[in-house]
Amino acid sequence: MEKPWSGRFSEETDRFVEEFTESVSFDREIALEDIEQNIAHVRTLVRAGVLSEEEGKKLEEALEAIRRDIEKGKFRWRKELEDVHMNIEADLVRRLGDLGKKVHTGRSRNDQVATDERMFLKREIRETVRLLGELRKVLVRLAEGTIDVFLPSYTHLQRAQPIRLAHYFLAFREMFLKDTERFLDCYRRVDDLPLGSGAVAGVDFPLDRFFTARELGFARVIRNSIYATADRDFILEFLFACAVTGMHLSRIAEDLILWSSEEFGYVDLPDRLCTGSSIMPQKKNPDVLELIRGKAGRLYGNLVTLLTVLKGLPTAYNRDLQEDKEPLFDSVRTLKGCLIGMRKVLEGISIRENRMRSGAGNLTLATDLANYLVMKGVPFREAHGIVGSVVAYVLEKGKRMEDLTLDDLRSFSDRFEEDVLDLLDPEGSADRKRTYGGTSREFLVRIIEIAKREEGLK
Ligand code: ARG
Repeated sequence: MEKPWSGRFSEETDRFVEEFTESVSFDREIALEDIEQNIAHVRTLVRAGVLSEEEGKKLEEALEAIRRDIEKGKFRWRKELEDVHMNIEADLVRRLGDLGKKVHTGRSRNDQVATDERMFLKREIRETVRLLGELRKVLVRLAEGTIDVFLPSYTHLQRAQPIRLAHYFLAFREMFLKDTERFLDCYRRVDDLPLGSGAVAGVDFPLDRFFTARELGFARVIRNSIYATADRDFILEFLFACAVTGMHLSRIAEDLILWSSEEFGYVDLPDRLCTGSSIMPQKKNPDVLELIRGKAGRLYGNLVTLLTVLKGLPTAYNRDLQEDKEPLFDSVRTLKGCLIGMRKVLEGISIRENRMRSGAGNLTLATDLANYLVMKGVPFREAHGIVGSVVAYVLEKGKRMEDLTLDDLRSFSDRFEEDVLDLLDPEGSADRKRTYGGTSREFLVRIIEIAKREEGLK
């Protein structure tokens, strides 16, 4: 088959090279963006007087017809035509003859592909942000229902201090909020138009790029044709935002995997979201969560792939840049799946309050005991030491902190008085965390009200 660029060639392309260089098997993903972009380019050419109104109209009609074919799955994609752009152009030529051959005037695939990718990414960022919003809503609703559920917080995966479960859910709501901000911030830089930059140096025809930007809904026009065609920083930013979100998702997934184990027994996952073992009849495995945790690896990989592709490329366009697409499409697909999966899990978990609470007392109250002594005038380091001895005693006697009598405690320090006995429970411990951002009921009620308003839940 004759290539659009075959003029200076004297032999046919090697079959292997056709296979090796083609991208249409995956860049079909941006076919509809390419159609939109073609239409805007045709209008810009008409406006510049390069095409007549009549020609513009015919080209637009043909592009609409191709769009319909693509949407219906009727379009015949051909690998010999390399990529999505040349497939669509070749079909225009098939339909319109010489007129179809005019569409690529004042344009290069270099500015074309960057434009399509930015259009695609704008749409996908909006969708990602929407899914993040849904996930945050579920977390806020969970928080609202779990203010009075207590569990131990963990540092070093050792029981640390009692917290209210709502506080935990709000921690992840906060992370997904920062992730959302990262995507929205990235969006601002994706929203710049490359088209009209040509292959690298700009275009000879008087194209009104600001008109093209308005047609395609871009906020700005990229003001350097080399940057416009050479860089993929906007994809890197997106891949980074995906990687960070994937990391957050993998951490909450890991917590829930641990919590659903028999050893913790803090939550139950719904059967519909678990799978069984082919050999061990008793198994109910948290595969969705495990895959969410595992897929963070791909999201990191895609970022590293593109960083590596870009490093040291001679300026401006090089075919290496075609390697940006698969990581991009993969991260888009992967992250959307993880966000939906996590939302479903969180909507379906049941919480075993008693199990959680039983872990939230005892030694997790040691810090409260030390702080009690501080209030009675003992310097903190000294108080820490005294309570350390109490802990050793409790462990040795096989008691729980809550079982200690006033006499027991006074044998460690005469600063302990009657009121110390009210101190030894998770609720009191949580509510003494008086600082902004802490786990007290008072603060959580306040922040949940704010979160609900921010999430449009009230
Ligand atoms: N398929 C190519 C890509 O994705 C389109 C741009 C090709 N440009 C070129 N001069 N060969 O990067």
